[in-house]
Amino acid sequence: MRTLIKIAAGIFLLLIVVVKVAAQQKINKNETLYRPDMHFTPAKGWMNDPNGMFFKDGVYHLYFQHNPDSNVWGPMHWGHATSKDLISWKHEPIAIYPDYIGTIFSGSAVVDRYNSSGFGVDGKAPIVAIFTQHNMDGESAGKIDFQNQSIAYSNDNGYTWKKYAGNPVIKNPGIKDFRDPKVMWHEASKKWIMVLAVKNKVSFYSSMNLKEWKFESDFGIDKGNHEGVWECPDLFSLQYNNETAWVLLSSINPGGPNKGSATQYFIGQFDGHQFTTPSNKTKWMDYGADNYAGVTFSNTGDKRILLGWMSNWMYAQQVPTIQWRSALTTPRELFLFDVDGEKYLGSQFFTQPQIKNLAVFNNIGSENVVDMQSYVLNFPCKFSLSQEELKSFSISLSNTIGEHLDFGYDSLSNQFFIDRSAAGVHDFNAGFAQKHMAPRIATSPTTGVSVIIDKTSIEIFADNGRTVMTDIFFPTVPFTKISMQSRTDKAKINYRITNYLTP
Ligand code: FRU
Repeated sequence: MRTLIKIAAGIFLLLIVVVKVAAQQKINKNETLYRPDMHFTPAKGWMNDPNGMFFKDGVYHLYFQHNPDSNVWGPMHWGHATSKDLISWKHEPIAIYPDYIGTIFSGSAVVDRYNSSGFGVDGKAPIVAIFTQHNMDGESAGKIDFQNQSIAYSNDNGYTWKKYAGNPVIKNPGIKDFRDPKVMWHEASKKWIMVLAVKNKVSFYSSMNLKEWKFESDFGIDKGNHEGVWECPDLFSLQYNNETAWVLLSSINPGGPNKGSATQYFIGQFDGHQFTTPSNKTKWMDYGADNYAGVTFSNTGDKRILLGWMSNWMYAQQVPTIQWRSALTTPRELFLFDVDGEKYLGSQFFTQPQIKNLAVFNNIGSENVVDMQSYVLNFPCKFSLSQEELKSFSISLSNTIGEHLDFGYDSLSNQFFIDRSAAGVHDFNAGFAQKHMAPRIATSPTTGVSVIIDKTSIEIFADNGRTVMTDIFFPTVPFTKISMQSRTDKAKINYRITNYLTP
């Protein structure tokens, strides 16, 4: 009898080991297949919006909406990572934890250069973070004032944080959606300006010290898209034709041009109190399905550099990654351009000198079908097209089991597209396997289509960033082939593929 029990126990233990090994193998396979090489992902757990991004002393700091204990959304913390080039990231310890006021929702951080907040010590500028605290108990109890704005400060350049004892600094006036403060220094009025998402519009507040805030004005009730809730706004100026123009970003969910979450923007003037725009057009920063809640870094001088959350609330919590969920977009430098007097916002991949390119293929004609040498899709492909040559084309990435991701341009409808309907796993959400379209907003003086492809994402910057699309996809086995079809007989579309050497 004893022997039998021993044998049974032995078999049971063996089974446990076998199950554990199989689970680990599944994770390893999933990591190799899906974890991107040049896009930020959390080491483990859930991520959504990028938060509190600032640049100081050569280091980019990124915080992000993070649920460290699960791969779905939950009690939000601010995760933290640092980078010198915005491509390779170092994971840092969690920066800000939930407390009795609430969990830590989206927000921003500023370098308080002149210590207006008084949080500085020894003459060193403090970093001040401004964020929403979301009270989950209040929400479950059916209250409406469960989102309030709080601040925290850091005296070591963003590595450790203390919450302000006087939190919250802006109390909820009785509005359910009242969140995502983005703060900037407004030089002309010498004040801090906050833009806050308030249900179906944004509100502006001003402050001298980041602790006391005065309501200034509202914007947006009668402008833009209103099919969803406004979230994660950003306000900044950009130079254009020797003039200063003000850009207001506002993410919206749902209501995007290709369904679900997307980011709309407005271009106008801001006088320290009010934002105004002459335009009544709804404009989208990115026409793909997967660039949401993007905001810009503080303290980058004249450059406006944006990172977005590369997912969509429609399916973000169901995508087939195991250890982690969601990546961020590549860094994008924003710029203005106009079409017949109407101003638009463009985004270009923000490359930096320290990132080394390794040319792999050059000037490959459109007849070619090229085997990608890469074991991983870790390269940006650059397609150089002249304006006349931009006839309809379609480029296909495919794998050995017939899955393919197609993207290109259709001259008849004058639209760029990404078709992920046959690009791999999609059963996690009925709305995922779709073809997404983007209008060609403008040609550019030096025409080009740059495409950045990683293991699970494609980012198209057409006409030098005048039309932008970002989509994610999940092949069952890696894509290893690229082929191009062109409807022009001249077939003179030359492109170049470069591999990124991630430092
Ligand atoms: C946007 C958002 C924000 C909020 C955060 C919560 O994706 O809904 O409005 O602060 O996510 O995680």
